[in-house]
Amino acid sequence: MKFESDFSLKSYNTFGIDVKAKHFARFDSVQELQELLQRPEIREENKLILGGGSNVLFTKDFDGIVLLNGIKGMEVVREDEEFAYVRAGGGEVWHNLVLFCLEHNLGGIENLSLIPGTVGAAPLQNIGAYGVELKDVFYELEAVELATGELHTFDGEACRFGYRESVFKHEAKGEYIVTAVVLKLHKQHQLNTSYGAIKTTLEEMQVQQPTIHDVSAAVCHIRRSKLPDPAQIGNAGSFFKNPEIPTLLFDVLKVKHPDMPAYPVSGTTVKVPAGWLIEQCGWKGKVIGNYGVHKNQALVLVNYGGAEGEKVLALAHDIIQSVQEKFGIVLQPEVNIL
Ligand code: EPU
Repeated sequence: MKFESDFSLKSYNTFGIDVKAKHFARFDSVQELQELLQRPEIREENKLILGGGSNVLFTKDFDGIVLLNGIKGMEVVREDEEFAYVRAGGGEVWHNLVLFCLEHNLGGIENLSLIPGTVGAAPLQNIGAYGVELKDVFYELEAVELATGELHTFDGEACRFGYRESVFKHEAKGEYIVTAVVLKLHKQHQLNTSYGAIKTTLEEMQVQQPTIHDVSAAVCHIRRSKLPDPAQIGNAGSFFKNPEIPTLLFDVLKVKHPDMPAYPVSGTTVKVPAGWLIEQCGWKGKVIGNYGVHKNQALVLVNYGGAEGEKVLALAHDIIQSVQEKFGIVLQPEVNIL
């Protein structure tokens, strides 16, 4: 266990924003976490749970205790003819879990390769990419309740997953720390290569009969070419969610903007890529001093070094406003703003 005060969070958020936490503690087991939560000096503090810090924008110092999940471990805990159940500690790096599954020839999360962040954070926003979401392979999770220190189990239904959503962003927000996740993975692989960019990349790689390894390689290639590496340029992936709008509104907008892309969600709604909307408003590649909008993906805001969170947030508001003025669509942030 590690405990510090007046602690810089700069290397604990992928945006690289330099703020401080009043206290900081890292726990490496459920027991250590439970002990921490019982300490009187900690019980009264505001608490923030950090995994990889890859989905957060700090705009000020954190007046409370930051709890860093350091619980490690990955294993195949059960198998039957069709499925293998893989259990991973909440503090594991997500991509290392993807690699573990690939090594064990288990399919289902190859499309989720290289998503920054930890295993414990993955269910909070039901991470997704290239046609697959965590909920598609999720079996259950274990989480410690902050108020009581009790360990609970949540199945998929209890997690109430949606597009970048779960119960942990709503009713249960800030109430639990995810200590382990169990995935249910296919032994017989069912590849999802429907996403256009995957198809094209596999063709470029001259792969005719792709394996989970090929799909993972294709996804890594796409992500590396489009998305900035947080180790080099501070960012938190997609800053906004792709908005879901009524098909009727889309039909109206399409008259004025015939190139506007959209993907059907239900019979009455479509999802519009926020990156396209932002690009149309002229923001793509915009640099404002030491921060801006990424040049290859307008949905990603970046910190070139030393940017203040408040400034990045002000940029986000300007983007929201201009998209609203041009298209009448209100973008919602995907990252947690603190
Ligand atoms: N587009 C533009 N300009 C841009 C960016 C995108 O016109 O600058 C348009 C293009 O039409 C493109 C379409 O948007 O075809 C879709 O772009 P992309 O495939 O890059 O996906 P996205 O919808 O922008 C979402 C996720 C990503 C995920 C990709 C791939 C959200 C908020 N974002 O982005 O997730 O990697 O799909 O599945 O749903 C993340 O959550 O941090 C993240 C990176």
